[in-house]
Amino acid sequence: MGTQTIKKIPLVDLKVQYESIRTEIDEAIRGVIDKTAFVGGPEVTTFEEEFASFCEAGYGVGASSGTTALHLALIAAGVSTGDEVVTVSHTFIATSEMIIRCGARVVFCDIDPATGNMSPEDLRKRITPRTKAIIPVHLYGAPAEMDEILAIGRKHGIAVIEDAAQAHGARYRGRRIGGLSDLACFSFYPGKNLGAYGDGGIVTCRSKETHDSLQALANHGRLTKYTHNVEGYNYRLDGIQAAILRVKLRHLDAWNVARRRVASWYDERLAGMPGVETYRYPSHIEPVYHLYVIRVDGDRDRVLAGLHDRGIGAGVHYPVPLHLQLAYARLGIKKGALPHTERAAASCLSLPIFAELGEDRVERVVGALREVLKA
Ligand SMILES: Cc1ncc(COP(=O)(O)O)c(C=O)c1O
Repeated sequence: MGTQTIKKIPLVDLKVQYESIRTEIDEAIRGVIDKTAFVGGPEVTTFEEEFASFCEAGYGVGASSGTTALHLALIAAGVSTGDEVVTVSHTFIATSEMIIRCGARVVFCDIDPATGNMSPEDLRKRITPRTKAIIPVHLYGAPAEMDEILAIGRKHGIAVIEDAAQAHGARYRGRRIGGLSDLACFSFYPGKNLGAYGDGGIVTCRSKETHDSLQALANHGRLTKYTHNVEGYNYRLDGIQAAILRVKLRHLDAWNVARRRVASWYDERLAGMPGVETYRYPSHIEPVYHLYVIRVDGDRDRVLAGLHDRGIGAGVHYPVPLHLQLAYARLGIKKGALPHTERAAASCLSLPIFAELGEDRVERVVGALREVLKA
């Protein structure tokens, strides 16, 4: 590409976000240090309440990550040895890892190619008398088809646990993700729409009883400091992370609006571009574009390399579906078993998206993509 320095466009820019809220964040961190409320404490409790209210959910229980939030939710749903849990294969491995940690068997189902999310039709075929829970993932920030999934759960008496790690603030039929089912799990990994400055997560739930048992489980099964009716885990959310998340929660809706605007700029420019497919969601699904993902015909990895050469920080989420990972070879699922998932994995390409990304840079990304596809 010659010697000219190319101004890179990253996939996500956490630094520019920090610059816009530096004073608030620095004060919040100092406040926790001043009070030495590092584990538990008022910031955690208040954040749990604020986030639950943001999600229009009853309660929230902070966790040390999205992964541990999933573990807590699976235990709360009663998942244990011999059970089956159905989830998608087109996701990050954390979705399935904790199913295994509970001693249950993971059953992968295919996606709807139009949205990239769990196919209710395929889900129906995977239900057996041993199915204890279903985990739909709101992939890339777009809610899964919850009415149908919840109806399947209700019909069979199966718990639905949402993996909302990528969907803070998204809406389904006008309602926020997190309050739609009995249990929903969020990740606050730094790059998420609501990201901590380290690891963090939360489970939102409907009932006080579930809240109390999740809270005890996340904190060594504690009733009081040294009374334990059950064994639990050290899965707590830190005070500093909660204080940071409280600041960022106040900006989340505005950031999500900005992400949707960026997505609309991509939508306009990519419509009809030969060799490119975009996800178009029906109007009852309001995504928050954790990622902006397209599907490209032909050699996706060549397109990815071409974008990198042009300074565009594109990514792939996710290149190898879980059912074809070595980690799940023991399940003996063959290539071709989940055709829509496999096609999505082979063709998906994530373009830069974050609230501060301007239209001029979207134009540059699209220009670079056009160039690579023509080459
Ligand atoms: C879909 C999905 N589920 C679960 C997780 C796990 O979250 P964490 O990294 O906070 O453990 C992530 C995040 O990376 C994710 O994207």
